[in-house]
Amino acid sequence: MIFCKSRSKENSTVGSKEWQVHNPAGSKRVVVTKELPGKRWLDVLVQAGCKVEVCSSSDILSAAEIKTAIGNRCAGAIGQITESWGEEMFAALANAGGKVYSNYAVGFDNVDLDAATRHGIAVGNTPGVLTETTAQMAVALTFAAARRVSEAERFLREGRYKGWLPTLFLGNLLWRKTLGVIGAGRIGTAYALMMVEGHKMDLIYFDPHAKRRLEDYISGYNGFLAARKLRTINCKRADQIEDLLREADCVSIHTILNESTHHLINKERLALMKDDAILINTSRGPVIDEAALVEHCRAHPHFRVGLDVFEHEPETQPGLLDLDNVVKVPHIASATSWTRRGMATLAASNVAAILMGQPAWQKPDIAPFLEGPSPAAAPSILNAKELSIPQFMD
Ligand code: DGY
Repeated sequence: MIFCKSRSKENSTVGSKEWQVHNPAGSKRVVVTKELPGKRWLDVLVQAGCKVEVCSSSDILSAAEIKTAIGNRCAGAIGQITESWGEEMFAALANAGGKVYSNYAVGFDNVDLDAATRHGIAVGNTPGVLTETTAQMAVALTFAAARRVSEAERFLREGRYKGWLPTLFLGNLLWRKTLGVIGAGRIGTAYALMMVEGHKMDLIYFDPHAKRRLEDYISGYNGFLAARKLRTINCKRADQIEDLLREADCVSIHTILNESTHHLINKERLALMKDDAILINTSRGPVIDEAALVEHCRAHPHFRVGLDVFEHEPETQPGLLDLDNVVKVPHIASATSWTRRGMATLAASNVAAILMGQPAWQKPDIAPFLEGPSPAAAPSILNAKELSIPQFMD
């Protein structure tokens, strides 16, 4: 490691990568594998007495590079969904004296929680700040697909627009149609309500649990509509995913990725959907069999898709990028400044709190961490129970 020093910040080089070292005098070394937006996250770690080493490269770091950065003395780490945090990494972190890892994400399918627990490493994530931001991107993709926005823009940019035509880029009107939501957690619920309230769509959702809060909300909203003599909204939970796929005009996926949801949408299930249905995915790429999707979209030109995530990111299935009926963006559903700064604050707060021996926050509302004095707790520790980390008490 080569150092060049300036005030409370230094630069170092590990292998071929540059790292910025903040608060070099800090006693607890924390490795952060990517630069993060905002300032609060760094203040949180510095106030907890951490020396914070941040990789300046936008390259995805290999396991070997991260292990080199961890070295033989490292109290904690903040990593990315593009990195695989499993046995090898957690063993390296534990051997270096590490106690905590936080994913800079709400999703944690890149993390082997059991391995972390075996090595006594607390694992954090960043729920609560992605909800509306991600739901909004699902809405954006829904209408980009339904109204053929990317395709029409390409047409314009290529200088092919010769004047208004009655039949130019006819799309789907989703008003009063049926919405299917797969996975009605925080983000799925936020998306459902944006579509139900904004576009008066009936809702069918598929989730292992009945979502009473969502159903009660819609029943209250129906009271509002009925009082104005407007048609009310139908809301039901599907017993089988197949029922939802057959019935919905637009299906949006908001499930987590695990063994049971891998290729949840496959060739057979795509075949159940309406020929002009819309399919949106802002969850995880492998939930859809991407090869089957490409085939389906080729055979059904009126079937439209909006994707934020891909099965083998950053690679895409051959042919996918050429399809006009698929709108795609590069995994940016959580990319608003507010959300990404919030994620940084939550990840840093997870690490700082565990290193200071603080308990785990139990409430779904993480807002108190985002401004003003932070609670003396770790906002979201996934294996708190397994590691017997006490719960925060008011
Ligand atoms: C997450 O947090 O899980 C997203 O996919 C990245 O923003």
